Amino acid sequence: MERIVLAYSGGLDTSVAIPWLAEKYGAQIIAVTMDLGQGKELEEVRDRALAAGAVRAHVLDLREEFAREYVLPALKADALYEDRYPMATALSRPLIARKLVEIAEIEQTSAVAHGCTGKGNDQVRLDVTVRALNPHLKVIAPARIWGMTRADEIEYARARGVPVPATVETPYSTDTNLWGRSIECGALEDPWQEPPENIYAETKSAAECPDHPAYIELGFSRGVPTVINGVPMPLLDLIASLGMIAGAHGVGRIDMVENRLVGIKSREIYEAPAAVVLHAAHKELQKLVTTRDLDRLARFLSVQYADLVYNGLWVTPAREALDAFMEKVQERVTGTVRLRLFKGDSRIIGRQSPFALYDHGLATYDAGDTFDRSAAEGFIKIFGLPVELSARKAPNVDSRQSTVVSHGGVVR
Ligand code: ARG
Repeated sequence: MERIVLAYSGGLDTSVAIPWLAEKYGAQIIAVTMDLGQGKELEEVRDRALAAGAVRAHVLDLREEFAREYVLPALKADALYEDRYPMATALSRPLIARKLVEIAEIEQTSAVAHGCTGKGNDQVRLDVTVRALNPHLKVIAPARIWGMTRADEIEYARARGVPVPATVETPYSTDTNLWGRSIECGALEDPWQEPPENIYAETKSAAECPDHPAYIELGFSRGVPTVINGVPMPLLDLIASLGMIAGAHGVGRIDMVENRLVGIKSREIYEAPAAVVLHAAHKELQKLVTTRDLDRLARFLSVQYADLVYNGLWVTPAREALDAFMEKVQERVTGTVRLRLFKGDSRIIGRQSPFALYDHGLATYDAGDTFDRSAAEGFIKIFGLPVELSARKAPNVDSRQSTVVSHGGVVR
């Protein structure tokens, strides 16, 4: 009998996928539910998988691995997709794929399955990563095949006695983990419509925020955030507490129209309070300690990094090479960034580092100036030389000039 390992979230699609796969392939279904910090009661999810007909249901706690091996490298790389999206979902897919492959190898199955539809990026990320890790495994995406509407799915589930999750009541599609949350569908599909307040779960509206700002000092050690307001914290705790503080001050909401890999432009709402603050702080600190050239290079590669992650190319030599570059840059990314959070606004108000290239003597306009002004004139002369040369050889495009400059020749 064929056996299939299914990535099981407990939502409607994956709940329906259990009987559907079993019937269609005459297979036994092994459900795997992964804890990435989505904050659901996963024992319940496991029971639901069994109730839907899975022969076995595993629950894996992957929070630490997700934060260390996926979130952290993307933070070090300052990787924000299209300048804004911290990629909570995109970063989780390669880890989910890796675990599917591992369980498939342990359970000796020939196929893995997931609940992605045929329109999104997640199917690409999962399929490509499974292929990269084990090209012999078949990948099945029932929701890409079955052509059922949501109503059909509910009917399909009811007919088979599969418990329908309560989430079917909301018109939104969400994905949550410790790095952030995405919200799509329903009214949000009109990019002109302001998102209703009730879609948010981790961030307060400005109206509900405290009337006093919060000041936060974030300490980094070699690119890794380790300290909040002087208190050292393990990474998971740091992300969680920072998320609480920033979310309470309304920080971390993102409303954007993004380019999906599959060619569609989609309106996406994200809330990622910890990620937004950490990205801003990391970027600031890295800028303080890198030379202009390295800063430019790193910024350019950040875009490449984000595109690779977004496009599902995590398990590639290109991403590994970029990580090696970013890791080198992190050698000096140690120090502290101060931020002020207030009614949805997060603002950097200070930064310091033992490796800061900021030099007060060079920068100051007050006493103690160490900058060699006498060198400025010569520097400017050489720096501006190409500009001057080009100006001297300018073609006569300006008609007023052409009558002055030309002898004979030009008839106006
Ligand atoms: N647009 C985002 C991305 O591609 C969010 C996707 C959300 N996925 C989901 N299954 N709800 O990463």
